[in-house]
Amino acid sequence: MDSGDRRLHRVIYTSRLHGEALAAEEATVASIMDSARRNNPRRGVTGVLVHGKGCFAQVLEGRPLVVRGLLTVIQRDPRHTAMRIVKVDVVEDRIFPAWSMALLRDLDEVPAEFADGNASLLMLMRMRTLLHTGELGA
Ligand SMILES: Cc1cc2nc3c(=O)[nH]c(=O)nc-3n(C[C@H](O)[C@H](O)[C@H](O)COP(=O)(O)O)c2cc1C
Repeated sequence: MDSGDRRLHRVIYTSRLHGEALAAEEATVASIMDSARRNNPRRGVTGVLVHGKGCFAQVLEGRPLVVRGLLTVIQRDPRHTAMRIVKVDVVEDRIFPAWSMALLRDLDEVPAEFADGNASLLMLMRMRTLLHTGELGA
């Protein structure tokens, strides 16, 4: 039932690849991105996945119940471990409205597509800091 409540949740977490998934990091990421791009549009989920050095940092944005359900699925995913929820915000607007799941390698240049929005650029920078330091920064 639509209660008319348009609030969204934005969740940020980190985790570590392990086992075979770590040994085949590129293939693991490709398969995760397949799932995200297939499933997220119909669930109204957007965000970004940053990876590098065997770690993930992800932003998930969507309706609260949907995000919670997806987090439960992701948490059980054996391809990673040590999932740590860093931040949960109730928000009115998405930072990545056009991205069912954007992908960024930690050392890649930030793609030009993100230059159109200060909020998305800033968040990408913060996610990189998070991946490298474990802290999200200001
Ligand atoms: C770090 C990480 C991020 C993930 N992000 C998503 C996501 O945004 N959307 C999604 O559907 N699955 C995501 N997954 C994959 C899920 O854990 C799960 O494998 C998938 O949703 C199963 O759906 P499928 O059978 O349609 O592929 C992610 C997995 C990992 C390890």
